[in-house]
Amino acid sequence: MTQEQLKQAVATAALEYIRPKLEEHTVLGIGTGSTTNLFIDGLATLRGQLNGTVASSEASAERLRQHGIPVFDLNAVDRVDFYIDGADEANRALELIKGGGAALTREKIIAAVAREFICIADGSKLVHTLGEFPLPVEVIPMARSHVARELVKLGGDPVYREGVVTDNGNIILDVHNFSIPQPLDIEKRINNITGVVANGLFALRPADLLLLGTDSGVQTLK
Ligand code: 5RP
Repeated sequence: MTQEQLKQAVATAALEYIRPKLEEHTVLGIGTGSTTNLFIDGLATLRGQLNGTVASSEASAERLRQHGIPVFDLNAVDRVDFYIDGADEANRALELIKGGGAALTREKIIAAVAREFICIADGSKLVHTLGEFPLPVEVIPMARSHVARELVKLGGDPVYREGVVTDNGNIILDVHNFSIPQPLDIEKRINNITGVVANGLFALRPADLLLLGTDSGVQTLK
């Protein structure tokens, strides 16, 4: 199967997973990226069976609205029942690297609120040790050089993502050559650097369920 077909398979599996659990007050958190876009497109068929959504990016919010699916401000809801999002890397502890689409901060906020975080990814995203994918870090623009120097001290090789401004008006540093055998520790250390808004490690709040698309079908990891 192609990567696109594997993404479609996990998007469909996530829809099948939540379909029987939807109620009229259900609020879904919606992530960002090509896999999530396939989920959004499928969700259009279920839009009458839930209250609405909160989105982790302007791009996802726009796509949801185009399908006629309500999008709420996170501050206007008192619950997020399920959060559905892709990942750039995942390990078997369901710790993730996210932020390839520069939406990591809002993704983290919604994941923090959500009762259940369902990660959907094609099988190429499963790794033994996180860090082959460059770790995105969202940074306040004036702190760019300071944060980069601190990331070098942690052993990484930060690269400014040229031409990218996040939905929050910040910049992204992608940390290359940064093997991460202890994601929890590194997530906390990067959070402690002044000027960092958020980093793309999801170890403090990992996924609860990983639907992984493989040639032999969709695997469920918990
Ligand atoms: C965006 C993300 C995405 O979930 C991640 O980049 C995966 O994207 P895709 O589904 O296109 O492979 O974290 O910030």
